[in-house]
Amino acid sequence: MKKILFIGLGRMGSPMAGHLAKNEDFSVSVYNRTSSKAEQWLKQNSGTAHNENNQYDSVILCVGNDDDVRENLALDGQFVPCLKQGGVVIDHTTTSAELAKEMSAALAERGAAYLDAPVSGGEAGAVNGKLSCMVGGDKAAFEQSADIFKAYCHNVVHIGASGAGQISKMANQLCIAGILAGLSEAICLTEKAGVDADKVYQAIKGGAAQSWQMDNRFQTMIAGEFDFGFAIEHMIKDLNYALAETQRQGWTPPVADKVLNDYRQLLTDGKSGQDTSVLVEKYRQML
Ligand SMILES: NC(=O)c1ccc[n+]([C@@H]2O[C@H](COP(=O)([O-])OP(=O)(O)OC[C@H]3O[C@@H](n4cnc5c(N)ncnc54)[C@H](OP(=O)(O)O)[C@@H]3O)[C@@H](O)[C@H]2O)c1
Repeated sequence: MKKILFIGLGRMGSPMAGHLAKNEDFSVSVYNRTSSKAEQWLKQNSGTAHNENNQYDSVILCVGNDDDVRENLALDGQFVPCLKQGGVVIDHTTTSAELAKEMSAALAERGAAYLDAPVSGGEAGAVNGKLSCMVGGDKAAFEQSADIFKAYCHNVVHIGASGAGQISKMANQLCIAGILAGLSEAICLTEKAGVDADKVYQAIKGGAAQSWQMDNRFQTMIAGEFDFGFAIEHMIKDLNYALAETQRQGWTPPVADKVLNDYRQLLTDGKSGQDTSVLVEKYRQML
């Protein structure tokens, strides 16, 4: 039986750890910084609280950002000493690619592997066990972890060396930024023209401009509903990592750069916690 520690029972981590707990091949321990969330999880799932005497085959994280991962993976901290020799750390946090390389090198010194494995699919994907996962790091460690990924992902791809998973997630976020900018412009055009935006959606859905964002957000953007989904502060973090990476490459992606500034402005305007599709409100200010 594989012994697993899951760190970070937030909106994503809690259901992901729940899928692992349902699998008889795993013995799952959990840790959450705010202990009440771990207590709550343990009431609803079969598993145990993390104990420093445990020895794990795999340690999985789904926390906030680079600094959170560093803090939790300190070699002399409360978790890494509990990882068996030859064990694997699977990090589902969205971070920089630099962090992934740093953690991979640090854990290699201790005889363990580190996989950067950010996910896409949102809270619904985590609850339904249908996340997409893009993985960087040692191929053998990836293959060794296939049973874990299978518990909550419907699409898992090993992309390449350490950091390649995070580069893929950045590519995903650049696509989303561009698509939402396009949808916002389209909605503003129709509203300013006095044309029924919902009828426009009925006409163009399924055509060449079709996308997940169009199918799931176009109508809510028209209705001005943003109290759900992926919050703009997460997107600001993700785009900051993407733009830091392109700056290292010597260029700036113009659309994502503008969208990032628009989200920063929306945050100042009090839109904290609202879905990324709230971008249309920034565009509406121009009308
Ligand atoms: N939400 C989404 O739709 C989505 C989609 C794809 C990827 N992601 C990425 O997945 C990660 C988690 O997102 P989430 O939505 O689950 O966030 P969340 O609900 O805010 O949960 C974050 C979790 O990380 C823990 N944490 C944060 N900093 C920590 C630290 N320094 N030490 C220990 N624990 C710490 C939090 O503990 P506390 O309970 O103590 O705060 C909480 O359990 C992020 O990197 C996010 O960008 C999110």
